Amino acid sequence: MAIIIEKEKKLITLHTRNTTYQMMIGKLGHLLHLYYGKRLEGDMSYLLTYYDRGFSGNPYDAEADRTYSMDALPQEYACYGNGDFRSTALRIKNGDGTYSVDLRYVSCEIKKGKYRLPQLPATYVESEEEAETLEVILEDCHSGCQVTLYYGVLEELDVITRAARIENKGGQTFYIEKAASVCLDFMEGQYDFIHFHGRHGMERLFERCSLAHNDQTIGSIRGTSSHQHNPFFMVAEPSATEDHGNCYGFSLLYSGNFKGEVALDQYEQTRILLGLSDEMFSYELRSGEAFYTPEAALSFSGDGMTSLSQNYHQLIRKHICRGNYKEKRRPILINNWEATYFDFTGEKLIQIAKQAAELGVEMLVLDDGWFGKRDDDFSGLGDWFVNEEKMGGKLIETVSQIREMGMKFGIWIEPEMVSEDSELYRKHPDWAFTIPERKPVRARHQLVLDFSRREVVDGILEQLFKVLDEVRPDYVKMDMNRHLTDIYSLGAAYQNQGMIMHKYVLGVYDFLERLQARYPEMLIEGCSGGGGRFDAGMLYYTPQIWCSDNTDAIERTKIQYGTSFGYPISTVGSHVSAVPNHQTGRTTPIETRAVVAMSGSFGYELDLNLITPEEKEAVKVQIERFKKDWPLIHNGRYYRLNSPFKQHYFTAWGYVSEEKDKALVSVVTLDTQCNPATYYVKLKGLDLETSYKVEETGSIYSGAALMYAGLPIPRMKDEYESWQVHLTQV
Ligand code: DGJ
Repeated sequence: MAIIIEKEKKLITLHTRNTTYQMMIGKLGHLLHLYYGKRLEGDMSYLLTYYDRGFSGNPYDAEADRTYSMDALPQEYACYGNGDFRSTALRIKNGDGTYSVDLRYVSCEIKKGKYRLPQLPATYVESEEEAETLEVILEDCHSGCQVTLYYGVLEELDVITRAARIENKGGQTFYIEKAASVCLDFMEGQYDFIHFHGRHGMERLFERCSLAHNDQTIGSIRGTSSHQHNPFFMVAEPSATEDHGNCYGFSLLYSGNFKGEVALDQYEQTRILLGLSDEMFSYELRSGEAFYTPEAALSFSGDGMTSLSQNYHQLIRKHICRGNYKEKRRPILINNWEATYFDFTGEKLIQIAKQAAELGVEMLVLDDGWFGKRDDDFSGLGDWFVNEEKMGGKLIETVSQIREMGMKFGIWIEPEMVSEDSELYRKHPDWAFTIPERKPVRARHQLVLDFSRREVVDGILEQLFKVLDEVRPDYVKMDMNRHLTDIYSLGAAYQNQGMIMHKYVLGVYDFLERLQARYPEMLIEGCSGGGGRFDAGMLYYTPQIWCSDNTDAIERTKIQYGTSFGYPISTVGSHVSAVPNHQTGRTTPIETRAVVAMSGSFGYELDLNLITPEEKEAVKVQIERFKKDWPLIHNGRYYRLNSPFKQHYFTAWGYVSEEKDKALVSVVTLDTQCNPATYYVKLKGLDLETSYKVEETGSIYSGAALMYAGLPIPRMKDEYESWQVHLTQV
């Protein structure tokens, strides 16, 4: 049993293979948190201490007891208004304008399988045996605000998911002003906050900070999860490393405004919150209505961050990603964006496809510029009909020629956007977010469509279906190239504009669900100016996401390193592009570009007609190599072998099969040095008891030698060279 309810002791315990999570119902009915960490048995309520603490108020029904304070007790879903002055999970504005809610325990129930959330992404299991659900009902007797806390226990994966359903059981409308998905209080311990910040073209950079007695907050109010912060973070003991120590992961399955908070309180307790951002959020809940928060997936590892990451890799690959390509190898693609930008014709595409097909590439992806009047980014968005003049004929004719070469065909869309210079905008100016009487903020010369309105989503789908029905693409790249401003929706009353940012995300999810339902075989790749919406929510709809608009192999090692903490390799869109690199001007060998791009869903993004005959030969070999190595790369265990932020000469990572019989190590040099030292790469995850053959040299070493002593990295002759070795157990 993964979930145990002990009624007399008022204890609820969740067990996974290696972890235990325990809570109890306090003497006044508050749901208190007791423990989350390494697996153990027993009643952990002895950890709670009750003291009279100055300026920490007590609930009225505590009567003369000054030791029972919500300001100090660890809680499962802390709420504002009952004397807890820390940042809380739930804030309600009642019908009478007051801010107060005090949740008390009503009941709890264990259910087989894993709960699902209406209109929202959620982890799923194939069979009911793989998970158990706990539902705990709490209620505020004054407002009738009833909260159901969901806990999904995926025992084998060491993952516990959380979400909340908030229902108005009272007679008066109230407003939800904050509703986190998870609230977790640690009674003791020192922790570091590890999160992934960035910017466009440089996403998910690793940052580790000690906790202080203030709120450390990450989040987004941009309408997407954003390039700037990611809704995955970790909290780890200061001594925790890749291979040792206690660490916790928090991943929000949501693609819009979010907030992650970690803070030390006055009694050295740590509170962690993750969920929807409360900025500009106000959700009207009328009597009888219910609201669901997004889901958060928690995991704990007592063995450092590598195994924590591997828990998330498994979870996302097997229990979040869906669709035809969930487990399959994705077609090796050529994308025309960096090859042509907007400057292409049908004929030019055919030439690119032809050369690519000869080298073994399997799919051509036609990027931005095929529709409406779209020769630059000033116009055309919203007009989802083929620009036949530019294409030199019907799109289907070009696509048929590409298919005759034995290639698949993919196409780019950006459905959430509109250009002011477009037929759509001229017909439906009110479909774009703009505030009456104000001039909107422009970004990339475009405006955002109000996807919180069903008729807007319908209108865009209707246009797209006409094109897609005809060409039946094998793949769609769904892009999103600006953040949301000027939030005013005709779909909501003036007092409900605070619901729009969330409803927008639900509209995007609805769009994706309907797109996939109509073309179930099709692969959808997510994108938002690269990795600006790289989150576990999006991965429920799109099993891969274009990781960054930065295709420079050296900078990509940092971006992909950061991404790997919370997301599996199979989700990382990564391409070999031309040199000098268009974003950084750096020149790297084609082999290094491929080694980095193969650490993802592999593809090319350049005109292969323009590379040298030697490079063409290299591309052929790379494609064959990726096809062979793919099962290990996408399904094997992933190991970060060092940090590109710490070791400036080289970075390395590896993959080991579940059976530990095969491994692949990749090393990329980040710098050149005169007369350098010899550097060694120590492998991880191998079988210590057996030996491995290095396929490239035929040498045999014990697993222990490879892990404890490592392999000397050969001295590189040129700048940014790379080195890969394949190991097979003997
Ligand atoms: C941003 C994407 O990340 C690029 O790959 C490309 O598709 C452009 N948009 C096209 O406008």
